[in-house]
Amino acid sequence: QLGEPGQEQSSSWCRHVFQNSVVFVCGRLFELDPELLTLFHYTTNCGSTQDCLSSPEFLEHVTKVMLVIDAAVSHLDDLPSLEDFLLNLGRKHQAVGVNTQSFAEVGESLLYMLQCSLGQAYTALLRQAWLNLYSIVVAAMSQGWAK
Ligand code: HEM
Repeated sequence: QLGEPGQEQSSSWCRHVFQNSVVFVCGRLFELDPELLTLFHYTTNCGSTQDCLSSPEFLEHVTKVMLVIDAAVSHLDDLPSLEDFLLNLGRKHQAVGVNTQSFAEVGESLLYMLQCSLGQAYTALLRQAWLNLYSIVVAAMSQGWAK
């Protein structure tokens, strides 16, 4: 039960749900495509996929994703100002061997986290609005793959 958490509490709750959701979704993703996990270089010494997914570095990446989404929300009125940052972020992901298709799975985790956190407030319209925002972020990052 959420109760009425303070902002700090609720953001740590969101991070917790998001991390769990990413661990779940990525667990499935990495089963389908084990190569993907090896992109996170620090996972080479993990015993099992589950160990890798719960490693502090992997969870740190989940936080990095959330910070980017957070930045996009704070710049809703001025998303083009993030384009350079997102293009460079895309380039970094291209350089480590990430495929743009994998971004969809992360988006799925984001929506799942929102659904869990918001309950009835998670309407079709709200889902679409978040999907639009995430698609803009991913589209800007995908420019990093452009020739
Ligand atoms: C860094 C993989 C999706 C944001 C990284 C790194 C890897 C990686 C291997 C470098 C190591 C690290 O910092 O952990 C992936 C994979 C993805 C994915 C496989 C999809 C399946 C995303 C998305 C975002 C994002 C959707 C943001 C919306 C970041 C940030 C960094 C990072 C901010 C740090 C970049 C820096 O050091 O300057 N990612 N990533 N990633 N990723 Fe991702």
